[in-house]
Amino acid sequence: KVQDIVDVNEYYKELEKYLSCVKTKIDFKPDVAIVLGSGLNKLAKKINVKETISYSDIDGFPISTNKMHAGAFIFGYLGDVPVVAMNGRIHYYEGYSMNQVVSPIRLMKLMGAKKLILSNAAGGISDNLNVGDLMMITDHISSFVPSPLIGPNIDELGTRFPDMTSIYDSEICKKIKNIARENNIDLKAGVYLQTTGPNYETPAEINMYKLLGADAVGMSTVCEAIAAVHCGFKVCGISCITNKAAGITGEPLSDEEVDVAASKASDKFCLLIEELVKRI
Ligand code: HPA
Repeated sequence: KVQDIVDVNEYYKELEKYLSCVKTKIDFKPDVAIVLGSGLNKLAKKINVKETISYSDIDGFPISTNKMHAGAFIFGYLGDVPVVAMNGRIHYYEGYSMNQVVSPIRLMKLMGAKKLILSNAAGGISDNLNVGDLMMITDHISSFVPSPLIGPNIDELGTRFPDMTSIYDSEICKKIKNIARENNIDLKAGVYLQTTGPNYETPAEINMYKLLGADAVGMSTVCEAIAAVHCGFKVCGISCITNKAAGITGEPLSDEEVDVAASKASDKFCLLIEELVKRI
């Protein structure tokens, strides 16, 4: 059901309905929430799963239409840590409102999660980013997508004008760097820019994004990070660079290329996140 929910009370009630629906299926309080982007789907196999709930089994919940993504919450343990993982995220380009796109993030907060690990596949803009690299997100540019906070503020979740000075938690970022160093993972760091998608960018757009300070580009994550900070999550994010951004090599981009590169980087990506969950 692709529709815009504008009434703030209705929207919050909808979130509470999702929560009670989840609670009828499992009594579980996650500590860490993880959004599994391309390349991280394999992490699902490392989770000691207690329950899986398809988005389609939650009444009214947005459903991911992307063929690559299963569209389910996975509840379980990574080591001793109770986690909820989103296997498949909702993208703005699917036609959902921004509110709907970030509903799963807010729901995971209402479930009790305190920390959020975001992941994605991204195109590398910066010269020092190569296919297969992992890039820790240090900051982002949201200027090309609508804010998920537009509309009446949902006071139950957070304040009207949330600060965005340090979205990506510096303590968590330190841990990510340490884990990478200890495991000989060549970790890059940089600024991620979100576009609406679903089309890839033009070379002229990539030139512009580079001038604006973006290191990597993709079609997700930023709106989720904003909503997450708004509702009080500690946030971090990692991109898997699956291709050089449009125009850099001159070759056309394809989702096959993205998927192949994401699969290849999958092992180190999973290792990094698995370790992070234990230390976060
Ligand atoms: N652009 C946008 N989104 C992406 C890209 C890209 O080059 N690679 C993977 N996701």
